[in-house]
Amino acid sequence: MELVDAPHSKCGTFGFVGSSPTAPTALMGTYKRIPLKLVRGKGCWLWDDKGDKYLDAVAGIATCSLGHSNKKIERALIKQLRKLQHVSNLYQIQEQEELAKCIVSNSCGDKVFFCNSGAEANEAAIKLARKHGHINRGIDRPLILSAYSSFHGRTLATISATGQPKYHKGFEPLVEGFKFFEYNNFESFYQLYQKVEASQPRVAAVLIEPIQGEGGIIPGNQNFFKKIRDLCTKDNVLLIFDEVQTGMGRTGNLWGYQENNIEPDVFTLAKGLGGGHAIGALIVQKHADLFSPGEHASTFGGNPFACKAALTVFNEINRPKSLRNIINRGEQLRTGLLEISRLFPNHFDGVRGLGLMQGLLIKKEIDLCASEIINSALKEKLLLASAGEKVIRMVPALTINKYETNQLINRLKDSIEKYI
Ligand SMILES: Cc1ncc(COP(=O)(O)O)c(C=O)c1O
Repeated sequence: MELVDAPHSKCGTFGFVGSSPTAPTALMGTYKRIPLKLVRGKGCWLWDDKGDKYLDAVAGIATCSLGHSNKKIERALIKQLRKLQHVSNLYQIQEQEELAKCIVSNSCGDKVFFCNSGAEANEAAIKLARKHGHINRGIDRPLILSAYSSFHGRTLATISATGQPKYHKGFEPLVEGFKFFEYNNFESFYQLYQKVEASQPRVAAVLIEPIQGEGGIIPGNQNFFKKIRDLCTKDNVLLIFDEVQTGMGRTGNLWGYQENNIEPDVFTLAKGLGGGHAIGALIVQKHADLFSPGEHASTFGGNPFACKAALTVFNEINRPKSLRNIINRGEQLRTGLLEISRLFPNHFDGVRGLGLMQGLLIKKEIDLCASEIINSALKEKLLLASAGEKVIRMVPALTINKYETNQLINRLKDSIEKYI
């Protein structure tokens, strides 16, 4: 099966309908930016340069886990700035050791490598997968199997691993060694697997999101994941979870793999880990601890400042009360979104998601795209994101409260009512 995009004429591939830069800018045009200058934040709220206050259901795209200007992060980071900002990974870094310990003692992982972003974490995972293929499966040119509609980042290897052609266009030749199957479809996976493994081992790893994010907020099917887990275990293929968007409490569990009821050999983190500060991580079980000194590195990866931010986030989120809040607010949001979907049956097809990662689905066959509702929501002082052209994505701070969740639902309802 070839990778193809479903075209929606007016939605455009990225960005927002009708928005264009309002003033000349020295920035490259990689984003179609909304003409809104955000200058201040507190919790789930943001203020623009005119003093208008917005409810933020984007949270830096699932990143500001504890909301904006969180006091605990502020205190911890001021202290850290005064103590030590950056030293090379040539030395031992206490905050990095502490964070790694927190992660491994609360997950299926045994060892951690720190970097600065999701794409970097996945790059590390891809290198690790190839090494595993070479040394543990005796493969000359290892393959990584990935899903259609996946998203793994914007570096050359991670766009190549991404099962959406819109991210490839113009950047060919892609990095070789990736093949695609249909998410949640074991038949599709197994057919591909058998085909490429027909005469000799060729698959080094399966790279997959426990819930597809950018592809449209698609939760994984437990049975599908169990079958893949069993096959990977049997054949010594690495199962790698991209938890860049799902990890660190987003779904109501600390890790997205808990939703699939299986454990990966390797998983990656970024986004919510630093609560708005740049940090990514590759986490491996013992048998996948394959890098030797010099084989992988990062100048800034795991610096004391980013690790302190992540430690603060970890200590806040890894509490029954916080995880319960994510589940309860997620349920409240989901109920509200289902109600909206029922109120506008000609426009919406229900809701998908887990915890505080929810998507309202626009009917495929109608001429309406997420960006139109996102624009309309701006007038209601609500910030929303999209996941593809037909899913309105809500990934607010994990600390959102009942009143704010109610506001989110009501403002979204008003935005839809006034637009359609
Ligand atoms: C699942 C997933 N993987 C990787 C990435 C890339 O992360 P980053 O933008 O930090 O490189 C993203 C970003 O949206 C993501 O959602």
